Amino acid sequence: MNFKVPRGTQDILPSESWKWQQVESIIREVCDMYRYKEIRTPIFEQTEVFLRTVGDTTDIVTKEMYTFTDRGNRSMTLRPEGTAPVVRSFVENKMFGYPDQPVKLYYQGPMFRYERQQAGRYRQFVQFGVEAIGSADPAIDVEVISLAMEVYKRAGLKDIKLVLNSLGDIESRNAHKNALVAHFTPSIGEFCKDCQSRLEKNPLRILDCKVDHKNPLMATAPSLTDYLNEESKTYFDQVKSYLDDVGIGYELDPNLVRGLDYYNHTAFEIMSTSDGFGAITTLCGGGRYNGLAEELGGPAAPGIGFGMSIERLLLAMDAEGKSFKQESELDVYIVTLDTPAHRKGFKLLNEFRSAGIRADMDYMDRKMKAQMKSADRFNAKLVIVIGEDEVNGNVVQLKNMGDGSQEQVSDENIIETIKEQLK
Ligand code: HAM
Repeated sequence: MNFKVPRGTQDILPSESWKWQQVESIIREVCDMYRYKEIRTPIFEQTEVFLRTVGDTTDIVTKEMYTFTDRGNRSMTLRPEGTAPVVRSFVENKMFGYPDQPVKLYYQGPMFRYERQQAGRYRQFVQFGVEAIGSADPAIDVEVISLAMEVYKRAGLKDIKLVLNSLGDIESRNAHKNALVAHFTPSIGEFCKDCQSRLEKNPLRILDCKVDHKNPLMATAPSLTDYLNEESKTYFDQVKSYLDDVGIGYELDPNLVRGLDYYNHTAFEIMSTSDGFGAITTLCGGGRYNGLAEELGGPAAPGIGFGMSIERLLLAMDAEGKSFKQESELDVYIVTLDTPAHRKGFKLLNEFRSAGIRADMDYMDRKMKAQMKSADRFNAKLVIVIGEDEVNGNVVQLKNMGDGSQEQVSDENIIETIKEQLK
């Protein structure tokens, strides 16, 4: 029997996981700089949390959720995204009562969507996201965007662009919704079944349809931009001027609607413009979601955030030919020539580690040459060789792989000498 990872998932092997750790440390550093604190929510939630927020006509809810009934006969769903769980927790833990508002949170972890597998699209992917909840200041929209841009900048990405739209407030959206219904109703028979049901429930989703996207009525559909009321326009103008102030360029796209229903006002995506990147060019998506906290039973608490997958960030780095510098894995590798030397080496190994020195040795009873090759592969800075003479003389041979120098050091002085050489 041959077992394989489930379709749309992947093993992240040691040859790759170090890159993930690099991205994770960039994320931690940047979030710290912007004062966003980590929140960890469960991998699954009551299904209702997503139905109410992501929207029951969206692809995510209708086609992509991993939903199961638990042994207590409750419907549960593996989280397809992070915003709904975070806002659920914000309400449940009464974070709206915290003295410092907005509450600024970040998260990072696996999300699950039953999508067709292709480059950059997985069924389990790791999403890093931030949510700033409690403020309706357009400056915080720009803070959130700038945080995402900073992460990409630190990963070395240059070929990226910010695409921006405003979805307006509820009044504007209703006016636009009515215009869409009037536009599509006469010819709705030409559209797919999903679009037909979207017409009644949520006509905006028609614009997002993957089946009918070439229908000429799509291009002539009324644009949301023409239906923004004064308040929404002012808000959008303020967001744009804050972006100008901090020097973040953007492209306006009135068709950017996003695949989740909770958005209003600012909606944005960050795309890769690198030639080497595959068909899916969106690296990051986010927007404002005033009203979501109320939807989950809390008081009014306007919010904004984004989500980005680490997978796509790493793909964008590959496409741009950017890589992280791989640090040396080891400070010291201990080479031993016989059994008494192995015993002595093992004792030293443990002393080194206690002293904060990254060290390892051979456990396969291999010849000296093979052990030296391992030291090379691990990129060890120093190698210690122990044979019969060294055991008897209470010394070791210490070789510096950087400059090739070699010296005999007494057991007593070895830790001190290693630390000196590592400086
Ligand atoms: P989203 O646009 O559905 O938004 O996903 C955000 C990001 O998650 C995408 O831009 C992409 O990087 C990544 N992503 C989504 N699906 C996949 C997949 N199947 N494989 C790999 N990566 C994927 C949200 O999830 C919102 N919760 C974002 C947000 C936070 N809005 C406000 N706050």
